[in-house]
Parts: sequence; structure tokens; C-alpha cells
Amino acid sequence: MGIQITPSILAADFANLDRDIAAVPSADAIHVDVMDNHFVPNLTIGLPVVEAIRKRTTHDLDLHLMIEDPDRWAPEYVEAGAQSVSFHVEAAAAPVRLARELRALGAKAALGLKPATPIEPYADILAEFDKILIMTVEPGFGGQAFLDIMMPKVRRTRELIKGSGRQIALQVDGGISERTIDQAIAAGADVFVAGSAVYGADDPDAMVRSLRAHADA
Ligand code: DX5
Ligand code: ZN
Repeated sequence: MGIQITPSILAADFANLDRDIAAVPSADAIHVDVMDNHFVPNLTIGLPVVEAIRKRTTHDLDLHLMIEDPDRWAPEYVEAGAQSVSFHVEAAAAPVRLARELRALGAKAALGLKPATPIEPYADILAEFDKILIMTVEPGFGGQAFLDIMMPKVRRTRELIKGSGRQIALQVDGGISERTIDQAIAAGADVFVAGSAVYGADDPDAMVRSLRAHADA
């Protein structure tokens, strides 16, 4: 089974993003966490920085919008160069309409769920998305402990994806490391965000490859 590793630059040096993105050539995409100090209690980067990153790497950009009013802002991140945009269902006024708009612009659309948000109410709209993003920490900060109590939700989401008959990726984000990734693989996730595990390693690119190799273990 092939899995994808998407390093989160939240754990990189924001004064050396160019260098730190270049440090993970084996990444399947670069995960970019946008926080607005409203949806989550932290503030990171926005459109101008995404535009700047776009010019400096050929990797796909996997945007994770932890912001209010994604209906207004998510399409702008496609214009800024994102190949995939995740927005949170808790924040979106019209998630299906927004997913269709993102896809019409040529990007992948992903539905994000905070830990306390169940997947069942969204079973009927999964087919509108290219990817489902299950948070395995409370969004807002890197370096938190992996919430293994999310594994039943990951399993259930994988079942619903199978039932849909569509090719929908299942991403987990938060606390993914060599110690936790096996549980998430076993639960059915196939795309893995890793921030502190990758950028805290002596050799970030070797860590990307090592995490990916867990799928074959
Ligand atoms: C948290 C972000 C994550 C974060 C993960 O709100 O969405 O992408 O960077 O960091 P680690 O891997 O350190 O938990
Ligand atoms: Zn993220």
C-alpha cells in the first residue's frame, strides 16, 4: 500500500522557509497551516507567504486552512498556487458549494474535522471531496500528543469512503511520528502530516522516507 507524507512547515524555521522546504525533497507535498487567530488561538501565515513559497518550490502545496469564513478565502489559496485546499466543516457555511468551487478552479478539495466533530453527519457529502482530513490533535499548534482516541473515527471514515465507491484520500494531522503512524495506518489513513517529527529530526528527508516505509512494515 502506498502512503503519502506531507511535512508541515509549521515546525520549520519561518525565517528560513526556502531552506527548510528544500530539506524535504522526498515529501509528497508541503503541508501549509494557515491560522487566523479566530478559528484557532494562533496566527501563522496567509496569502502573500503562500504566493512566495509557490515561487520557490515545485512541490505540490497542501493548504490546511484553520480559519473562519473559508467560503470567502479558500478559492484565493488556489489562485495563490495551492494544489489542494483543506477547510474545516465547523467553519464553512456551504461546504459542498465550496468544494465544487475549489475543484472548478483545478484544486483538490478536502474536508477537515476537529477532534470533537463526528464524521457521520457528513457521510452523504464525502463524494464531493478528494480528501478527508481527520485532526489527531486540537488544531492550533504543532508538537502536541497524538490523540489515539481518534482511531475509531479514522476507521469509520475509511468505511464510509469505501462505501462511496470513490477514490478519496484520508489524511491525519497531529502528533504523527515513528511511534504513532502505525496505528493510523492500521486504521486506514493514507496521507500523513508530520511537523515536529520531520523538522525535529537530524535528517528531515530521511525521516520522511522512514515514516513512509512504515506502510511496508
Ligand atoms: C496543527 C497543524 C498541524 C501541525 C502538526 O494545528 O494542523 O499540521 O503542524 O504538527 P505536529 O506534527 O508537530 O503535531
Ligand atoms: Zn495542519
